[in-house]
Amino acid sequence: MWMSSRAADVPGSVFALMDAAKSRARASGLPIIDLSIGSSDQSPPEVVLEALREATRDPLTYRYPLFSDTAPLREAAAAYLLRRFGVRVNPETEVLPLIGAQEGLAHLLLAVTDPGDTLLLPDPGYPPYLGAAAVAGLKTVPLPLLPERGFLPGLDAVPADLQPRALLLNYPNNPTSAVADAAFFAEAAAWCRARSTLLIHDHPYAELTYDNYRAPSALEAGLDGVVELHSLSKTHHMGGFRVGFAAGDAGAVAALARVKGAVDFHPYLGIQRAAALALGLPDEVGRTGATIFQARRDALIPALRAMNWEVQWPQASMYAWARVPGLTDSVSYAVRAAEESGVVISPGRAFGARGEGFVRFALVQPPEVLVKAAGLLAGMEVRERVERE
Ligand SMILES: Cc1ncc(COP(=O)(O)O)c(C=O)c1O
Repeated sequence: MWMSSRAADVPGSVFALMDAAKSRARASGLPIIDLSIGSSDQSPPEVVLEALREATRDPLTYRYPLFSDTAPLREAAAAYLLRRFGVRVNPETEVLPLIGAQEGLAHLLLAVTDPGDTLLLPDPGYPPYLGAAAVAGLKTVPLPLLPERGFLPGLDAVPADLQPRALLLNYPNNPTSAVADAAFFAEAAAWCRARSTLLIHDHPYAELTYDNYRAPSALEAGLDGVVELHSLSKTHHMGGFRVGFAAGDAGAVAALARVKGAVDFHPYLGIQRAAALALGLPDEVGRTGATIFQARRDALIPALRAMNWEVQWPQASMYAWARVPGLTDSVSYAVRAAEESGVVISPGRAFGARGEGFVRFALVQPPEVLVKAAGLLAGMEVRERVERE
């Protein structure tokens, strides 16, 4: 009775189904290897935790943080963008703290679109994108991310008469782990500017990159008509802290500030202080987690390839996105994998129609556990083949 049509339009999540399968497996006594959720198992750098502990002892942090109180975090974000990407932003007008990138996106869509506007978004993509679009009353048009194109969207294929209000991109990508170079963002920004479309780049994996790869920023293509969402959840293992920032086009940032002004009061000041410190850390301290995820990638990908699963060698993010030979129903496969082998992974279908046939592993366990998980799935495959024959 009290459900608005916009609440009713928020799609249900396959993750609830997976959670139920996990509970059944646990109840049957099976040991569980949970690789389903992309929540870092690492801790933030100790100096960041200490800054937060210190802040909790400072009564000045107990009050509502006003916009002026967010200046140190905005300035740290601006310094980070300059140091890391060579992007210059005005911390007064072109940066805004967020309670995570997910909150930022939902409110940004409310701030820059009107009901009935069109949003182009990746398929497969991070599932809350569809929910945020539904809350804003948007028409969504999926942009297929296909392996043969390196999981980059083909903007040329978008019909010329479509007038999208916004294009949403995310590289390094969840769930495919694909990356995009600066030339791609320059093309995407030019494509958007030619259509008066806002380019929104969701960038929570900016520092979770491996080997010598460094992810570019969409803001390198200029701030005009571009907004980027940054997060400390993955890059500094601060998912539970709920902190990030938006940066880019001053008009869009002002609209976002207006909507957020009606909704929240910025993150707790202690968390802002911790985040500002984290953004200024040198790579040797700030990027330690990336090496850990890299070692996990190095263990899991060869194990999956040995099973003849098609999987690219990720340069970033915290996922392996694998096409399982002959798979047509990833949801029932993932449920079986949980119930029969105790390995909990995400079905590709959960990320969109183009995710069917794939499964996603979150690299949130040590290398030997990942290899064990691959072995358990290989064993299940063999058992199923024997049963069929
Ligand atoms: C693509 C993408 N965007 C946003 C988020 C959420 O980020 P935050 O914790 O900053 O809200 C995630 C988390 O998995 C993600 O994968």
